[in-house]
Amino acid sequence: MDVHDPRPPEDSGLVVRDLAVNYGPVLALRGVSLNVPRGSIVTVLGGNGAGKSTLLRAVSGTLRFQRGGITAGEISFDRVRLSGAAASAVVAGGVVQVPEGRRVFARMTVEENLRAGALGARDRRSAAEARQDVLTLFPVLAERAGQRAGLLSGGEQQMLAIGRALMARPRMLLLDEPTLGLAPMMAARIADTVREINARGTTVLLVEQNAAMALSLASYAYVLEVGEVVLSGPAAELAESDEVRRRYLGIEARSEDDRDDRDAPLAAASAGRPVLTRWSA
Ligand SMILES: Nc1ncnc2c1ncn2[C@@H]1O[C@H](COP(=O)(O)OP(=O)(O)O)[C@@H](O)[C@H]1O
Ligand SMILES: [Mg+2]
Repeated sequence: MDVHDPRPPEDSGLVVRDLAVNYGPVLALRGVSLNVPRGSIVTVLGGNGAGKSTLLRAVSGTLRFQRGGITAGEISFDRVRLSGAAASAVVAGGVVQVPEGRRVFARMTVEENLRAGALGARDRRSAAEARQDVLTLFPVLAERAGQRAGLLSGGEQQMLAIGRALMARPRMLLLDEPTLGLAPMMAARIADTVREINARGTTVLLVEQNAAMALSLASYAYVLEVGEVVLSGPAAELAESDEVRRRYLGIEARSEDDRDDRDAPLAAASAGRPVLTRWSA
């Protein structure tokens, strides 16, 4: 299967169908449908409060810890139903979330943090292999193994948070704004790492406000606004769309003079090129 095919088969990887989520009286997601084909990186973009973290919590079964709940729709991973499953069952099913704000155990050492991530590991040998993989991916964690996690830099804490998630040997990683608040150099290193993790075979759902970074990593992207998917398409096409450039990349729309027919959906359609899907405005 070509993982970059923008039209993935509907039943492989993560499938979210018509998802609605409430926190008490607050409706946080409505009618959200998306696919993350096995082996791909897919991104969900959106500003603050759009519902990105809510989406990841719905997948990871952690909504109930926030007094939230799924009120409609279905979530499955490789045809196994996740909606309704306990958080521990989702991890056992191979899907692991790295929550926003890189929540490491600050008073525990780096090594202890990693060990905590391996609690769900099948056996000691598999945990040792996972640890070796994580330390190869993040050599700095080996150097800092005995240090308290709270003393690491923000970027190193993000590496530890990702490393801890990888200790469970996930088939799919859910990443919640991993570069938020990091200096550009460190954000770029995290992005490289995400690419590397994916190249080693882990499927990735990345939610981000950093659209430029996310679109450079992902093959396919969805834009979430006030709890609904308003735009979706191949990442390269979204990166070229005037709306995304203006609203999420901070780039003004190009003038009429330097437009070409890539900017005109009708011209693109008549040329047989795919047009960005607009589900609602
Ligand atoms: N624990 C919660 N209780 C009540 N409302 C929440 C909770 N978490 C998020 N929300 C609301 O749900 C909406 C989506 O929030 P969130 O998923 O955190 O957005 P994002 O991650 O895109 O910034 C917002 O309106 C937010 O105020
Ligand atoms: Mg969030």
